[in-house]
Amino acid sequence: SIEKQGAGAAMIKNPRRARAVIRAAMEGVADGGEAIPVSVKTRIGFNKNELETWLPELLAEKPAMITVHARTRKDMSKVPARWEHVKCAVEIRDELQKTLQKNEQTLIFGNGDITDLEDGRNKAKAAGADGAMLGRAIFGNPWLFGVPAISIEEKLWVMVEHTALFEELLGDIKNFAIMKKHFKAYVNGFDGAVELRGRLMETETADQVKNIVDEFLTSQKPLI
Ligand SMILES: Cc1cc2nc3c(=O)[nH]c(=O)nc-3n(C[C@H](O)[C@H](O)[C@H](O)COP(=O)(O)O)c2cc1C
Repeated sequence: SIEKQGAGAAMIKNPRRARAVIRAAMEGVADGGEAIPVSVKTRIGFNKNELETWLPELLAEKPAMITVHARTRKDMSKVPARWEHVKCAVEIRDELQKTLQKNEQTLIFGNGDITDLEDGRNKAKAAGADGAMLGRAIFGNPWLFGVPAISIEEKLWVMVEHTALFEELLGDIKNFAIMKKHFKAYVNGFDGAVELRGRLMETETADQVKNIVDEFLTSQKPLI
């Protein structure tokens, strides 16, 4: 697993290695001759909040940005993200980098349980963070960052395209069942969604999904 290799959240247990990885990434982009910023994303700790000792290790490498997912590894996703820890991360950054110019400081972004852009802006502002990272909010809603409103028809055709691409690009290595959580995310909040979702849960190929969506939209045409 990722963790058994000492990667992912297990990096928190080995700050020396984590710092070496950050330095290697920075050297790699420098060698490439491009000014690509290197960012880090981390949880607040492994079994408990370790920001007081862990964050200074990361900050010492001066990455362009650190995103703090406001949970421990042990929390998984079972408890709500605790944004007060993002605030704490900002305070640690402010203290440790107080002698740096503002544009040389590491940006601190918060992550965890943001539902939409407004929620992200509010949470970042309340924590004093420089920004926010959204994860699961994008499920079923790839328009999240741009288009304000989208028709059901367009949404369903994007789901069909998403499914076809999944099959084409990942069909050999991933189980089709993985798409089903996306069907749940795309298909909700409109008349007939529950029944349509039920039918999609029975599918095994992108073609079947396309046919079901086609049938659904044809039957609904006068309504949407
Ligand atoms: C399917 C899935 C895959 C994820 N993979 C990664 C990953 O590879 N690296 C990572 O740092 N976080 C990963 N995460 C965690 C998210 O980046 C994010 O920290 C977490 O979902 C909390 O944010 P959210 O509430 O906005 O989703 C993953 C989350 C999900 C749901």
